[in-house]
Amino acid sequence: MAEQLLIDGKWIEGTTGDRIPVVNPSTGEQLATVADGSPIDVYQAVQAASAAQKQWAATSPRERAEILRNCWQTLLNHRDELAKLITLENGKPLADATGEVTYAAEFFRWNSEEAVRLHGTIGSAPSGANQILVRHPPIGVVVMITPWNFPAAMITRKVAPALAAGNATVIKPSELTPLTALRVAELCESAGVPPGVINVVPTSAPADWFDAAVEHPATRMVSFTGSTNVGKILLRRSADRVLKVSMELGGNAPFIVFDDADIDQATAGAMTAKMRHSAETCTAANRFFVEQSAVQEFTEKLTTAMNAVTVGDGLNPDTTCGPLINQQAVDSIDQIVQSSIADGATLTAGGSPIEGTGHFYKPTVLTNVEPSAAITQHEIFGPVATIIPFTNTGDMLRHANNTELGLAGYVFTSDVGRGMNVSEQLEVGMVGLNRGSISDPAAPFGGMKQSGLGREGASDGIYEFCETQYIAVSW
Ligand code: SIN
Repeated sequence: MAEQLLIDGKWIEGTTGDRIPVVNPSTGEQLATVADGSPIDVYQAVQAASAAQKQWAATSPRERAEILRNCWQTLLNHRDELAKLITLENGKPLADATGEVTYAAEFFRWNSEEAVRLHGTIGSAPSGANQILVRHPPIGVVVMITPWNFPAAMITRKVAPALAAGNATVIKPSELTPLTALRVAELCESAGVPPGVINVVPTSAPADWFDAAVEHPATRMVSFTGSTNVGKILLRRSADRVLKVSMELGGNAPFIVFDDADIDQATAGAMTAKMRHSAETCTAANRFFVEQSAVQEFTEKLTTAMNAVTVGDGLNPDTTCGPLINQQAVDSIDQIVQSSIADGATLTAGGSPIEGTGHFYKPTVLTNVEPSAAITQHEIFGPVATIIPFTNTGDMLRHANNTELGLAGYVFTSDVGRGMNVSEQLEVGMVGLNRGSISDPAAPFGGMKQSGLGREGASDGIYEFCETQYIAVSW
């Protein structure tokens, strides 16, 4: 198991010699310890990335494309091993972890195809005096800060386009799930990524780590996935050096069910949108707005489906929902659920932690939730569905948009015209129309309002990691 810092292609202990314990959230057992990176280590990693980046940027797009395609194949060749590692340190069911590895690998295949299609433009100046040539060179060194909920895919979604464009990177994986990050980087090097192009420095002191990374003059960009609150801190700090930023932040997705929807299809979509990856996704359905005449049927069907979820250790093949990441997550979700019940919500499933070892919470359904209830302003990040009945579409849309977060939304209706109309009025970056799953390396992932800046994936993804240079040329 890769358990040290990866700097300049070498596995090293950190300068402090300290180590971070990595714990299985299903069992509470310590899986391993990894080297704890200090500010000195991260500074050295940026130094190494800066030196490696110049050579990497000088390779041909075709060469980079072929290495990225090798990364795709290599990750797939190690799918079972990586999935087990993800399940061990994150807790998600093995089937979700296996899906994550495929998703993570796909960013390499997609961006191997983008690497050779990174286009500039050329046009005449209006005066006719010259040509305006626009090109997109790489930015240089990109610092990446990635979360624990997708220990592989949130790394590859950034690394693949960054490398395709000719950048090098220093990654701070979550200290809760560093093993997957280190192994993914090791596999990428075995697939041909040169030493120093990907550096991984886990740490237990993220603020100091970030200060050191930002202070290095070679750092030119910060790419972050995580909470809106942390994103704001990183944005402020990045402003000191006017760094380019890409931010994938929190969500509070509305899931809208009209009474003409196929309620079985809506329930299946709700289970996907709410429960995939143990309900710990930023795109998770957070508020279920259900048209009054469909509330009873939808509530019954969702309650039945939530009661049928098998909660347990992700390694057990029967498990369909793993633990939450830690006890703090269990306590905070329980507190939100209990105060929502105290505010008048009706509990139809779950409603409490599961006693015993591990950080498990019962799949929970709350109905009769008021649209302005406190719970509607929380990103729950756990297996709790809140049903908010509505009668008027305009009022429902006002409530659905009454949040500073605008990452994802879902609409279920058999009238596609209405579905399109409502989708267009949602202030979110991504909509699932009659679909509970929206993530796709070929689609632009990102949010409006305080859910983020920039897009990952699609053809936009690679340009996030590029500069724009214009040359006024006469010939
Ligand atoms: C996230 O939760 O941060 C990402 C979700 C996804 O890519 O599906």
